[in-house]
Amino acid sequence: MSGIEIVRGDITAQEVDAIVNAANESLLGGGGVDGAIHRSAGPDLLEECRGLGGCPTGQARITHGHRLPAKYIIHTVGPIWRGGGAGEPEFLASCYRSSLTLARDRGCETVAFPAISCGAYGYPLRKAAELSLATVREELDEHGLPALVRWVMFDEEAYRTWVEVQASSTS
Ligand code: APR
Repeated sequence: MSGIEIVRGDITAQEVDAIVNAANESLLGGGGVDGAIHRSAGPDLLEECRGLGGCPTGQARITHGHRLPAKYIIHTVGPIWRGGGAGEPEFLASCYRSSLTLARDRGCETVAFPAISCGAYGYPLRKAAELSLATVREELDEHGLPALVRWVMFDEEAYRTWVEVQASSTS
């Protein structure tokens, strides 16, 4: 039975098979969690990313974890929030599905996600929490893998929102 966890913390410190990065289409680094992951993983990550040729919004690419405890880093590009009428929900759901597909293809048992698109890209927290929890639950019900999906929230408000949405949807 696959599980979902929501914790506060720094995704770069997670001892899981794969962590997911909220990247941009260049895959050449940035601020927020992207910046934290590149700082912790070291310069070889950027070298590996250069070879990938970017990634369209809603899709994902996988690299090694380099200096991170995680074996892999899955880079996905979330939508920039533009009010909700430009396909943002579909793109965000696609980020989670694409990331989990790559994780399953590599046999990952444990995967950690940040709150994709909820920082610089401005996606409203509650809408993102409702959509991402529903999408991941569907994926785990359908495929049974990975065994554990953990949201790692750097931000107290994001943590509280995911916990509230999770509690209200399982009660
Ligand atoms: N661990 C976990 N979560 C983190 C960390 C961290 N070390 N650092 C930041 N976060 C959280 C933020 O608090 C936010 O809730 O990640 C969530 C996503 O925020 P961003 O990193 O700003 O990502 P996003 O909103 O998807 O914007 C992506 O920002 O950094 C650039 O290159 C990136 O252009 C891309 C854009």
